[in-house]
Amino acid sequence: MTKSLTITTPDDFHVHLRDDVLMASVLPYTAKQFARALVMPNLKTPITTVEQAIQYESRIKKALKSDSHFQPLMTLYLTGKTSLEEIKKIPEYKQIAGIKYYPAGATTNSDSGVKNIDDRYDVFEIMEKLDLPLLLHGEVVDPAIDIFDREKAFIDQHLLKLHKTFPNLRIVLEHITTKDAADFILSSSKKVAATITPQHLLLNRNHMFIGGINPHHYCLPILKRETHRQALLNAVSSGNTKFFLGTDSAPHLKSTKENACGCAGIFSAASAIELYAAVFDELNALDKLEGFASFYGADFYGLQRNKSSINLVREDWVVPEKIIVGGEAIVPLYAGRKIAWRLIS
Ligand code: DOR
Ligand code: ZN
Repeated sequence: MTKSLTITTPDDFHVHLRDDVLMASVLPYTAKQFARALVMPNLKTPITTVEQAIQYESRIKKALKSDSHFQPLMTLYLTGKTSLEEIKKIPEYKQIAGIKYYPAGATTNSDSGVKNIDDRYDVFEIMEKLDLPLLLHGEVVDPAIDIFDREKAFIDQHLLKLHKTFPNLRIVLEHITTKDAADFILSSSKKVAATITPQHLLLNRNHMFIGGINPHHYCLPILKRETHRQALLNAVSSGNTKFFLGTDSAPHLKSTKENACGCAGIFSAASAIELYAAVFDELNALDKLEGFASFYGADFYGLQRNKSSINLVREDWVVPEKIIVGGEAIVPLYAGRKIAWRLIS
């Protein structure tokens, strides 16, 4: 039985770091295990310009410990009004790694997102020419579409056409949750890849309701049925380079999760690489962890693979029940539960 594991330091290609006090509290968890992370732009005031992204990057860097080598990779939030001039500035800024598409109203702080994706084909055309990655929150928001079908509907209604129209546009379908999405990724060209979260590998939709309603398992895209989880497990254990790590760690205060109208998002940064290791171990695929966590994302984004490494040991530990932020609690994924792998700092 493998007792310890040394892998190239991983990167998290999808994280929400927020801002101010909340950022200061959650950032150390990400910076401890990942060399780089792609930082989502859905702040209360979204990061819609290059200037805002650069300022946000410097706030993140300021919040890091002075000896930290962690590198944030920034993103811009696409709106109905984003100008082509703004997009054309991006290649000069190597720290900006892509542009995030949120359908307006799909999730947390997405009100400024795009109402009709077809209206932004002007942006996608420029992005294809400049070889800028497009990061998709791949769900439709039509209230007539069942919440469990929104990812598939996005693929059928929008993504197939988008990929066909711009075959050279690099696309990351973020936080995939369905067999339909995994199949789409497998059937598309090498310009298209996907990130997968720990919660969508570990949990199915029953986990939102077992023993009563559990708001800490509510995220978007929502957890799906077991057959879809199995498809995601097959995707990661196959070692296919089109699937890579993106935690979608999304902290919300306990009081806003345990609420009559609870927020969507799961905070996984407190134990992310350990949870992924446990998943790959269960699959008898620990040899595939390093590619998924440390190589394929960097390769897709055209970044150098990291030179440093991390060590994981097979050793039980219990995820904290909560972390405290300015006197309030955040409940992490797997709070109070045992994990069989531990990161050695
Ligand atoms: O569950 C989610 N939470 N999904 C998202 O797309 C956004 C995120 C957040 O920012 O809280
Ligand atoms: Zn996200």
